[in-house]
Amino acid sequence: MSVLLLRGRTLSFRDLPQSHDDEASHAYEEDGAVAVKDGLIAASGSFDQVSAQYPSADVVDHRPHLILPGFIDTHLHFPQGQVIGSFGTKLLDWLNTYTFVEEQKFADPGHCKRMATHFFDNLLRNGTTTAVAYCSVHKASAEAFFTEAAHRNLRMIGGKVMMDRNAPDALCDTPQSAYDDSRDLIDRWHGKGRALYAISPRFAITSTPTQLEMAQALKTEFPGCYLQTHLSENHAEIDLTLDLYQSARDYLDVYQMYDLLGDRSLFGHCLHLNGRERAAMAGTGSVAVFCPTSNLFLGSGLFDEDGLREHGVRTAIATDIGGGTSYSMLKTLDEAYKVLQLKNQVLNPLKSFFMMTLGNARALQLEHEIGTLEEGSEADLVVLNSQATAAMALRMETVRTLSEELFVLQTMADDRAIAGVYAAGRACHPDMSSDSGP
Ligand code: GUN
Ligand code: ZN
Repeated sequence: MSVLLLRGRTLSFRDLPQSHDDEASHAYEEDGAVAVKDGLIAASGSFDQVSAQYPSADVVDHRPHLILPGFIDTHLHFPQGQVIGSFGTKLLDWLNTYTFVEEQKFADPGHCKRMATHFFDNLLRNGTTTAVAYCSVHKASAEAFFTEAAHRNLRMIGGKVMMDRNAPDALCDTPQSAYDDSRDLIDRWHGKGRALYAISPRFAITSTPTQLEMAQALKTEFPGCYLQTHLSENHAEIDLTLDLYQSARDYLDVYQMYDLLGDRSLFGHCLHLNGRERAAMAGTGSVAVFCPTSNLFLGSGLFDEDGLREHGVRTAIATDIGGGTSYSMLKTLDEAYKVLQLKNQVLNPLKSFFMMTLGNARALQLEHEIGTLEEGSEADLVVLNSQATAAMALRMETVRTLSEELFVLQTMADDRAIAGVYAAGRACHPDMSSDSGP
């Protein structure tokens, strides 16, 4: 098969940057290239070096843009594309007033299909090539999610939500049907092509103890699957959870009683954890997922990134569409910076770009598949234009370092800065022709 050579300023992380000028944390080539063969990265480095290795490759010249690994979003809701920007409520009212109403529409496979097209278009428009998604309770929603992802050859993780109480009847499954449907979906999709499955009990409030036992059974039977749920997002949610599970020591203990913690378990939000919960998260390798635009929009609280990391908790970052307000990981990191300012913590731009690439890949234990430009990695890439808007171009006149440029991108950019996106080596921006150059 022919080799495609993408030329541009390449940036790939090796490790968590310790400061805004931690040169060792990343590889940056001013005139770089990524060679793509059979959907994988065959080589990356300086253009001279890579083009000497592949002299007959087709070249797409993206200069002066940046080429990075595609962004990774570790928590969002496929059925909430038409929930974003719903006014005036906090978590539990927001769920009942808007979200549970919208999610009922996913009983219709035609609606699922249409929404899946929009969902992946929006992710790719924003440079996101891997996402971990909650589908609705309906098996058909997960089918539509995986079918569309497979059609586009995307590495995607998802699962149907399990929920059997405290929601409209039309959105409730049963412990047994949740188990059966999840199992069928795992059989059909987990490990097929680029798809992976996440067992998805929505949160303790919407699952009976019997249903959490079913989630536990699935996790035991399918240790290669992920598990995703919500944890400690707001105080009313915590109080209701502890009312429903009176023997639990705290919110996390509900999940711990059913053995749902682990190094493939992703807990959305984690805003109000106590010391015991933090220690249990750290001890089990569980991941706390920071969702800044959602946490601000729903007034839920401020994530303690430094505190969690200092206590050994693994963290990831995500949009949480549709409590979150933007599909853009750039906008997400912009809001993360502001949240951490309020916590007197400083998120340096190298760390931001690490988080949305290699950091999130590590949280998913997929760092050998995605998240870097290393040889052998899957060729999921994003091309960024730092002068995409007039305001950015003006600001860029004074930028001198890569770190400054990344911070301008994070602070000022949105989907207009996405100058190209590749999945498994194929150009796949929904609004650009497949031979998309700069
Ligand atoms: N907790 C349970 N379900 C949800 C959801 O859909 N969004 C958010 N932000 N929190 C939740
Ligand atoms: Zn969520």
